[in-house]
Amino acid sequence: MHNKLANNHLPSKPHAAGLVVPVRELHAGHRDEILRHLLLLNDEDRRLRFGTQTPDEVIQHYVERLNFNRDTVFGSFDSQLKLIGMAHLAYLPKIKGQAQSAEFGVSVLPSGRGQGIGTALLARASVHSRNTRIENLFVHCLANNRAMMRLAQKAGMRVEYAYGDADAYLKLPPANPSSIVEEAANAQWANFDYVLKANFKRSNKAWSWFLGKSVARPI
Ligand SMILES: CC(C)(COP(=O)(O)OP(=O)(O)OC[C@H]1O[C@@H](n2cnc3c(N)ncnc32)[C@H](O)[C@@H]1OP(=O)(O)O)[C@@H](O)C(=O)NCCC(=O)NCCS
Repeated sequence: MHNKLANNHLPSKPHAAGLVVPVRELHAGHRDEILRHLLLLNDEDRRLRFGTQTPDEVIQHYVERLNFNRDTVFGSFDSQLKLIGMAHLAYLPKIKGQAQSAEFGVSVLPSGRGQGIGTALLARASVHSRNTRIENLFVHCLANNRAMMRLAQKAGMRVEYAYGDADAYLKLPPANPSSIVEEAANAQWANFDYVLKANFKRSNKAWSWFLGKSVARPI
């Protein structure tokens, strides 16, 4: 038997999407930013994210083919509105008689790591999945990806290892009024945060122009 259950404690409970890290839903107009974000990942991060060596052309192709009507893409922006973290929630084809599933893939740029951004993206994707009738959330990653394993474990996912790969599963309860409100609150907070950062950025630019030197960036 090559499969080993690392933390077999179903039924698992999705962790609550905290409001601390704002997560926005992205659309096709964000393609360039998504591409820039992914191209900033180094070889090892690309290997961890996509499971194999991933040259720039493959990333370009992946971004061009992102289907925003079928899937959902989430993003987290830093104070300069740089896409610091992004997650792709891909809806898997529905198989008759089987629960609907989605696959989650995530990346956070090194400068943003360890601040809860990956956790927030997973939490937002979990609650969005519930609210869109997804019953199983699935993450495929390399078994030595300790940061992703930690994220999965914190989210209460069941992890199975096989041949150096790991699959993490989260069985999601159906949507309820609180999951709907939770997602709406997070979306509102993320929009508010984005507008605030955009205003700070604009006012910083204006002051830089006025003073003839760059001014301190807001946190
Ligand atoms: C995995 C990844 C998204 C995590 O993003 P992040 O924003 O740093 O995540 P968070 O800050 O929310 O949490 C990371 C957790 O992993 C832990 N962690 C980080 N590196 C670790 C390591 N080497 N070993 C064990 N735990 C580790 C952190 O301590 C933290 O746990 P804590 O909250 O209990 O302290 C990021 O590292 C990344 O983009 N990696 C490259 C791409 C990738 O691996 N994607 C996943 C496959 S789809």
